[in-house]
Amino acid sequence: MKFLLGALFTVFVAIVGVFAVVSSGVVNVGADQEHNPMMYSFLETARNRSIKNASKDIVVPDLEKVDMISSGGADYKDMCAGCHLSPGVAKTDFSESLYPKPPNFTKADIVKRYQTEDGAKQGFWVIKHGIMASGMPAWGASHDDDRMWAMVAFIRSLPELDEAQYTILTTRINDDMMDMSFDGDMNMSDDGMGMDMDMSDDGSGMQH
Ligand code: HEC
Repeated sequence: MKFLLGALFTVFVAIVGVFAVVSSGVVNVGADQEHNPMMYSFLETARNRSIKNASKDIVVPDLEKVDMISSGGADYKDMCAGCHLSPGVAKTDFSESLYPKPPNFTKADIVKRYQTEDGAKQGFWVIKHGIMASGMPAWGASHDDDRMWAMVAFIRSLPELDEAQYTILTTRINDDMMDMSFDGDMNMSDDGMGMDMDMSDDGSGMQH
């Protein structure tokens, strides 16, 4: 009985202690402040176990299909490359300033875990749900599963691509063609006054 009371008292003191430290404000939440190694490995274990557990029942589609790989490219360039890098780009402001650092998906040793069935499930889960308080967004809020699987497929082949192949695989053909015809029409005024005014407003207000 005495032992039990002692143990309870210790737990109580520990909880009060943690509460006092947290409320005093001495815990630094700056992204330029590294965790101590024990805290880092604690958080990493929590992250890895959580992702493994949450993704275990996901069914992986055929990620080897060529159109699957190529259709993920443009989305990767638009939404991911700023943090996770691309061939010929070894760092960006995001990749340098985030903590934890976003993994560099042009590196074969980092990407090889997504070649396994479990790795692919976990990659998909992270893309869909993000990782809390890390800078990794939850893309599932605005994208359907097919688009996110295509990005998993693309990431798996990214380390094999050189800069020219990356450019080809990540160019959005339709949008770029529309951009070109839009540029050509800029000086024409046959769209009507209102439209013209809107377009010039957008140009000066937003682009520079
Ligand atoms: C604003 C920066 C940012 C953007 C944009 C971003 N990520 Fe991330 N991502 C991160 C960070 C930071 C981590 C590491 C989080 C951690 O280690 O806890 C991460 C982790 C991941 C992981 C898990 C890596 C692992 O070690 O298991 C995957 C997969 C991933 N991102 C894919 C993507 C994809 C695909 C996109 C684009 C749709 C994307 N990310 C966009 C910052 C970003």
